[in-house]
Parts: sequence; structure tokens; C-alpha cells
Amino acid sequence: MALSACAGCGQRYIRWNQCMPEVKSYALPTGGPVTLGTLDDMRQRIRQKSKLKGRQADDQSVAEVRALLGLPPHRRDLLIEHLHRLNDAHRCLHDRHLVALAKDMNIPMAEVFEVATFYHHFDVVRGDAQAPVITVRVCDGLSCELAGAKELLQRLPALLGNQDVRVIPAPCLGRCEQAPVAVVHQNPVPVATIDAVLALVQSGGTRHPDAGDGTVFDAAACAQSSVPSLSEAVQAAPAYTGYQAYRAAGGYQLAASLASDDAAVERVIQAMEASGLRGLGGAGFPAGRKWRIVRSQTAPKLMAVNIDEGEPGTFKDRTYLERDPHRFLEGMLVAARAVGIDACYIYLRDEYHGCRAILEREIARLQADPPCPLPRIELRRGAGAYICGEESAMIESIEGKRGEPRMRPPYIAEVGLFGRPTLEHNFETLYWVRDIVQKGPDWFSGFGRNGRKGLRSFSVSGRVSRPGVKLAPAGITLQELIDEYCGGMAPGHTLYAYLPGGASGGILPASLANVPLDFDTIQPHGGFIGSAAVIVLSQHDRARDAALNMMRFFAHESCGQCTPCRVGTAKAVALMQADVWDNTTLEDLNTVMVDASICGLGQAAPNPVRSVQKYFAHEVA
Ligand SMILES: Cc1cc2nc3c(=O)[nH]c(=O)nc-3n(C[C@H](O)[C@H](O)[C@H](O)COP(=O)(O)O)c2cc1C
Ligand code: SF4
Ligand code: FES
Repeated sequence: MALSACAGCGQRYIRWNQCMPEVKSYALPTGGPVTLGTLDDMRQRIRQKSKLKGRQADDQSVAEVRALLGLPPHRRDLLIEHLHRLNDAHRCLHDRHLVALAKDMNIPMAEVFEVATFYHHFDVVRGDAQAPVITVRVCDGLSCELAGAKELLQRLPALLGNQDVRVIPAPCLGRCEQAPVAVVHQNPVPVATIDAVLALVQSGGTRHPDAGDGTVFDAAACAQSSVPSLSEAVQAAPAYTGYQAYRAAGGYQLAASLASDDAAVERVIQAMEASGLRGLGGAGFPAGRKWRIVRSQTAPKLMAVNIDEGEPGTFKDRTYLERDPHRFLEGMLVAARAVGIDACYIYLRDEYHGCRAILEREIARLQADPPCPLPRIELRRGAGAYICGEESAMIESIEGKRGEPRMRPPYIAEVGLFGRPTLEHNFETLYWVRDIVQKGPDWFSGFGRNGRKGLRSFSVSGRVSRPGVKLAPAGITLQELIDEYCGGMAPGHTLYAYLPGGASGGILPASLANVPLDFDTIQPHGGFIGSAAVIVLSQHDRARDAALNMMRFFAHESCGQCTPCRVGTAKAVALMQADVWDNTTLEDLNTVMVDASICGLGQAAPNPVRSVQKYFAHEVA
């Protein structure tokens, strides 16, 4: 590099402030010389000025951050991944580390703080204040509440609560068939008892148990039956089908066959259209049609896979993923090839630690021995925010931002992740691609009852004898589901009410137990099937308690972006606790939430309230 001569002292310099040892005065273009002081004075002033701009990173914190994350530069979209690494290492986020991270990522400190404080799983603490060594989360979702979670939440803090252990409630953990559920740091406790939680804390069992890959799971064989339930000992980590076993059973032949055959790709899209498969994340948009729409967009195109599974009562994605990860990965590759996708981002909810370990291992095996050219695959970790299941919020989160839903249009199929056309799918939608294509679309559409077509994975929990995932025909009624798939009601319980679609899908009375369960069939009754999370209530339960549980959930999970949802859900929680409901005010809130909320959370939040007003008015009169 050529060195220039300094105008002040004649020395040679590279950057202006490396030289000029003593500048006493400077000639301004107009007027006489003005005394500025020594160079040290100037440096001091600059230091003071930069201090005014905000807190500066200290050397130790920068060193600690770099020891974990490496040297800058860092990709901006990896902010949440970096926060996880810090949070895992320190069991909290020290604010001094956030300052250092902001410096290394070259982004404003406020941006790092606003992201870190948005997500429930990040604990931001001041200075060197310490977080508890172990956090025990007890699910306070409806199915766990029915199974006794309140008692766990009441008694565990006194038995465990000290500086080192804290007990906190958590929204549905996606294990409702194992209710009540607790998680000791990252280790789930199915069918949790006080003793089981105490034993795990005392033994320091905080890691999710490893799952073995020594089994072959055939999802299609479960059609019209239950995904077999497991003993409590292996419920947290069942054996799964690994890469070699999946390939040995014909896996990835479909994906490989498409590599250089455009006609075969067209046949795959036609099969998807003919099968009538609709998105299984809740909205029910026809999958084949979505592929055509995104396929017609300009490259580069991206895919976002939704494994956020946050809807209370839903656990089907986890159930399949922890048994059979490659059927999903192959579906993803087939979709990517059909649509022309350059990179796939898999967004997995943070609560699924076992699934994350499986996906990390199996994606690495797939990449080490690819059956066909692979798109780039990135696995992203949620951080405890239900709203990130909403597709545009998920995209924001993948970009490393707060999970706030976007206004539409533009739709994400046109302007999605990183501004590119994006195909977003629920895990289970992709899970069925291989079977639909290889067995033929008629295999899938051949199932069905009461005039409906296809298979649905119902996550059934609550007052039934055998909860779990039931792969039943679309259009089956609740009564049939309970009688044929769940071994009837739990002993001592008779059907009183049910939630056909988790928190968002309303609450229906036993008198509507013969309504076909499918997309479009429940709307006339004031509900919807969504992700097919069926929670069954009995004569020992009250619909108003279920509705309050759901509204608390919505209030907790509202992203806060729009006032009707942020304030409306909190206000509704307060009103719903009165013995006699103020239905006029509640209906005002319902109307404004439905009309003026940006996304489905605020729009669906009134559903449980309206159900109680319509079908269970005697409980709140
Ligand atoms: C508040 C809210 C939460 C959602 N949560 C999820 C979720 O956890 N998992 C999911 O797959 N879809 C969820 N969805 C639906 C997604 O926005 C989107 O429709 C879906 O991922 C598209 O995939 P599909 O067409 O395969 O269903 C949610 C929607 C809303 C409004
Ligand atoms: S409706 Fe609620 S969750 Fe959705 S964007 Fe508005 S505040 Fe956020
Ligand atoms: S795991 Fe507790 S309600 Fe779902």
C-alpha cells in the first residue's frame, strides 16, 4: 500500500489518525486559526463522545463471545443461533455478552436486545448476576392441567426452589399424550410425578436421552390405526429409522429418480394435486397448488419447513419426526426439486431437543452420502415463541429477528425469506409426499368417511383411555375417534365437550360429537380443525376453564404488534375470571380482535370465548 505524507508533520501515514502527533491549530477556510488542543485532547473527546452513544463492549466479554462463536464477521441471520450458544453455555444471556455480540455482528445493541428479549427461552440478566443452574418447566397447557399439572406447579417450587433450581410454568410442550409433562432443563419427564422430577433434578439428569436408530417405522402401515404407544421408559426417546435403514427399505429412490428427469417432476406435481393433500399445519391450502405457484416465481427460491408445532394439543409432527426423520427429509427434497428450491431452512421448536439431535445427525449422514444433488439445508432452532409457527413470523425469526407476523400482501410465495419467493410447509405435509407419489394419489384420497377424502393425523389427548396420534380417515367423527381409536373415554369419565383444533379451533359440546372432522366441516359450528389437535373434556371439566386456559395462552404468546390482540387477550383473561361473564364487553373485544388483528392468533383468540357463549352459557350465567 502506498503511504501518503501527513499534511501536519510530513510523516508518512496509512490512516489519517495514525499520525499528526501534535495539532495545535487548524486553518479554517474562512476566518482566522482556531485552537483545537492537542491530539490527546481530541482522542479524549472522541472517547467521551463514543461513550455517550451507548455502552461499549469490554475486552473480557468480547473474548468470551469469540471463544464460543469464533471471530467476526458473522451472518446477521444467525443472531438467534448465536444467542442460543451463549444461553446454553451460561444458562442465561449476560447483558455484557449481548453488547459484545452486537459489536462483533456490527449491528445496533438495541437490535440484539429486542431479539433476545422477545423469545421466552432467553433469559437476559444484568452484569454477572447468575441464572439458576437448573430450570424445571412444568406444562400448564390444557391436557396437562387436566392431568394434574397444577399440583406439580404448586408443590415443586417449595420442594426444589432455591438459588440453583427454579420451577416455572410453560405453554404446551408438544407431549400432551404423556400429560402431565415437565422438562428438567432439556430432559422431558413424561407422565410427570413429584418423585420423578425430584429424582431427575437430584441426579443432574438434564440432557435429553439419546435415541437409537435401530428400527424401521412404516407410517403408511399405521393408516386407520394408532401410531403405537410406547412404554414410559422410552417415551422421551423412541428408536428411529436411521439413514441406512431408510435407504435399505427403498428410501430416497424417488428423490434420486427426479434428479435429471423433468417429465418425472411434472408427474410428481400432478400426483400431489390429484391426492388432494392439503397443508397440515392448520390453514389447509392445497399442497400441489402451492407448489405450482412458487414454481412459477423467479429464482432463487427458498423453502421454509415449519416444525414449530406450538398449537396446544398438537404432537403429531414430533411423533413422526422422532420415529422416521428421512421420510420427511425425502419429501422436502422432492418438493425442492419440483419447485426449483435453492436452499431449505428447517425451523424446529426449541422444546424438541431430541428431534434436534436426530435431525443434526441424520442431515449430516444424508449430506455425507447424498442420493441426489442436494439443496443447501440449514436447521434453525426456535426459542419458545408460539407466534413463530405463523409462516411470516417464522420467516422473520429465520432471518434472526423478532417473530412478528408480516402484513400481506405480498404473500411469502412471492416475497418471503430474505425477500425471495418461498415455499413454506408444515412438517407433516412433506412427510406424506413419498407415500403419495409411490403408492399413487388414490392411495391417499381413497381413505375418508362421511364424504371426506384423505388421512388425518389426529393428536388426541385429554379424557380418553388411550391418547396418542391416530392416523384416521378424514371426516371421522369425534365419537368414532374415541370409540375406535382411543379405547373409549377414560374410566369414570363421560364425554362433555371437545376442542377439535387446539387452542384456536373452538370448543364443541358432546351433542356435536357426530360432526365429521375435517377442513371446512366444523366452521358452520363455530370452530375449525386446524392441526387436528383434539382435546377431550368430560363431566368433571368445565368449558369455561378450558377457554380461560386458552385465552391465557394467547395473552402470553401475543407478539404485541397490534393493540387489539395485545390488549384484547389480556383484558379477556381478566373478564373471563368473573363468575358471571360480561358478555357485552367480551363480544366487543371479540369483534375488534377478529376485525383488526394482523394475524391468525388475534383473529382466532375469540373462538373459545364464543364457543362458551354459544354452547355452555349455563357455565357463565
Ligand atoms: C398463530 C399461528 C400459529 C401457527 N403455528 C403453526 C405451527 O406451529 N406449525 C405449522 O406447521 N403451521 C402453523 N401455522 C400455519 C402456518 O402459518 C402455515 O399455514 C403453514 O406452516 C403452511 O404449511 P402447510 O401448507 O404445509 O400447512 C400457524 C398459523 C398461525 C396463524
Ligand atoms: S394478531 Fe397478535 S400475534 Fe398476530 S401480529 Fe397482531 S399482536 Fe402479533
Ligand atoms: S404437553 Fe402439556 S398440554 Fe401439551
